[in-house]
Amino acid sequence: MDWGMKNRMSRIIQPDTGRAVMLALDHGYFLGPTHRLEDPRETITPLIPYADTIMLTRGVLRTSVDPEANTNVVLRVSGGTSIVGPHLENEGITTTFEEAIRLNVAGVGLSVFIGTEYERQTLLGLSELVNQGEKYGIPVLGITAVGKELEKRDSRYLSLCCRICAELGAHIVKTYYCEDFEKVTASCPAPIVIAGGPKLETELDVFKMTYDAINKGAVGVDMGRNIWQHDHPIAMIRAIRGVVHENMKPKEAHELFIDIKQGKVT
Ligand code: R5P
Repeated sequence: MDWGMKNRMSRIIQPDTGRAVMLALDHGYFLGPTHRLEDPRETITPLIPYADTIMLTRGVLRTSVDPEANTNVVLRVSGGTSIVGPHLENEGITTTFEEAIRLNVAGVGLSVFIGTEYERQTLLGLSELVNQGEKYGIPVLGITAVGKELEKRDSRYLSLCCRICAELGAHIVKTYYCEDFEKVTASCPAPIVIAGGPKLETELDVFKMTYDAINKGAVGVDMGRNIWQHDHPIAMIRAIRGVVHENMKPKEAHELFIDIKQGKVT
């Protein structure tokens, strides 16, 4: 691996633990003003110190994150469709590599919609990004999107998607946690991070999912709503860091969450 690629990968997957806490903030690119991300700056600023990387679009990066902020960026570079349009899956590449370089990103990310009529264009989009990424030393995050069809999240489908992303050269793959998740990680030669999905019922559910994903081979999370839609987002992300980087068990992470929430740990 070339120096630049290695350096950027180490900004995403921390070399001391081999793990990654990515904070997903890109939801507005197809959902508009998502609940609790209506004012991106307000949501993002207090969480920056606890995220290894933030994942977002160039628009929100430029308007809502200080360039002096000490953070690493994975830039969402696909889009072009919306939740109210006819075909959410009909995404293309929205942002050039020159722009990604200008923004000094640690990586770029794009969604693929496998099994839909847009799989070819989104997979060729991923391949094109990888071509450019290899040229400039910028890692590419392949995101196995399911659009509105959340029920697609099973190990058979996600294994297929993750493997295809890795085959096309994605440096990291983002997918969903599912039953038999170890089958997904075992057949994907690229490191995998999990999305959180819609907000779960309890904090403990989030820590359990994170713990199980890590123990079944994920290198970390690229999580959004289960952090910033929570009433105590800082306590959430710090407890998730505990699971990802310090191998905390769900119960320990929950205790840490409570302590931070109650101000017993600063
Ligand atoms: C979805 O395609 C977006 O890329 C989000 O970044 C992703 O779903 C992770 O966020 P959440 O944990 O809220 O699902």
